[in-house]
Amino acid sequence: MKRKKVVFSGAQPTGSLTLGNYIGALQNWKFLEKEHNCLYCIVDLHSLTVRQDPEEFRKISLSFLAQYLASGLDPEKNIIFFQSHVPQHTELSWILGCNTYVGELNRMTQFKDKSERNRDNVNSGLFTYPVLMAADILLYKTDLVPVGEDQKQHLELTRDIAARFNNLYGETFPIPEIYTPKIGAKIMSLQEPTKKMSKSDENLNSTILLMDSEDIVVKKIKRAVTDSENVIAYRDEQPGIKNLITIYSCLTGLSAEEVVSKYEGKGYGMFKTDTAEVVIEFLRPFRKNYEDYMRNPDFIEKVYKTGAQRAYELAEDTMILVRERMGLIQK
Ligand code: TYM
Repeated sequence: MKRKKVVFSGAQPTGSLTLGNYIGALQNWKFLEKEHNCLYCIVDLHSLTVRQDPEEFRKISLSFLAQYLASGLDPEKNIIFFQSHVPQHTELSWILGCNTYVGELNRMTQFKDKSERNRDNVNSGLFTYPVLMAADILLYKTDLVPVGEDQKQHLELTRDIAARFNNLYGETFPIPEIYTPKIGAKIMSLQEPTKKMSKSDENLNSTILLMDSEDIVVKKIKRAVTDSENVIAYRDEQPGIKNLITIYSCLTGLSAEEVVSKYEGKGYGMFKTDTAEVVIEFLRPFRKNYEDYMRNPDFIEKVYKTGAQRAYELAEDTMILVRERMGLIQK
C-alpha cells in the first residue's frame, strides 16, 4: 500500500490566534486531515525566543490547544501536541545546526525583522529559530507543510538543510513541499494593508483575533483602512479592499470574482458591514467550541499527552536512523 503523506505544521503560542493564522494555515490543516497523517504542534519552544511571563505563557499554551480543537481539528485523526514534550526536536535541532551555515541564517528576513523589534533581546535562539523549525519538520519525515506565505523562506532553508544532510550522510529525509492556500496565504493588517496581519502588532485595530467579541470585530472592520476609489475591486492598487475581499472569500468559499460581482455598484460601508457579519458567523461556533473545551481541562490534557506519546515514537524512529548516520553510539 502507498504510504500516506505526512503533514506537519505549527503555530507559536503568543497572544491569540489571528484570522490570518486561521486562513493562512489552520483552515488547510483541517482540510488535509482527511487524507494524510498529520501532526499539528504548538511550538512553545519557539515562543521562548521572546521573553514570556511563565504564568501567562502556561495559560496561553493551553488556550492555543483549545483554539486548535475549536477550529475543528479532530484529535483522533491528528497528532496534536506541545513541541517541548518531545525532546527529539531539540536534539535534532542541534545536529541540523551543525549542518547549517551562519551565512544562511543571516539571510533570514524574519530574523532581521524580529531583531529590529526586540533590540534589547537579540538572543541566539532568535538566530537559530529556523533550525529548530527545520528539525520540527524533518523529525517526522514530513512531505507537506501547510503554512502562510511568510514561512516560505524558512521552508526553503529546511529543504536545503535536508538535501545537504542526505548528500553527506545518505538518504534520510524526504524534501518537504510547502503548501499554501491559493488565496489567503497572506492576510494583511487592517490598518496598514501592505503589511501582514500579525499576532504581535501593537496596533490592536490591525488584527482580528479568533477570540475577539462580535462588537470588536464590527469595530475593527469598520475602521479598516481602504481608499477613496469607492469601487469594490480585487486589485493590488486597492490593498485594503483586496484584503477584505480575500477574507470574505476564504470564509464563505465564494471566489474573489464572485464577491466582486455580488458587490458591484455597492458602497464600502455596506461591504464592510457584510464582511463583519461573515467573520462573526465564522467566529460564533468557534467561540462556543473554544469555551466548551476550556471547561474540560481533563480532555485537553488527554489530547496533548496522547499526542506527545504518538509523536515521541515517530520521532525516536527517525532519531535512531539519524544517530546511526552521524556515527553516534546507539543507546
Ligand atoms: P506563526 O505562529 O507566526 O503562524 C502560524 C501560521 O499562520 C500563518 N500566518 C499567516 N497566514 C496568512 N496571513 C497572515 N497574516 C499570517 N500570519 C501568520 C503562518 O505562516 C503559519 O503558517 N515559524 C512558525 C511556526 C513553526 C512552524 C514549524 C510552522 C515552527 N515550526 C514547522 C510549520 C512547520 C511561525 O512562527 O508561525
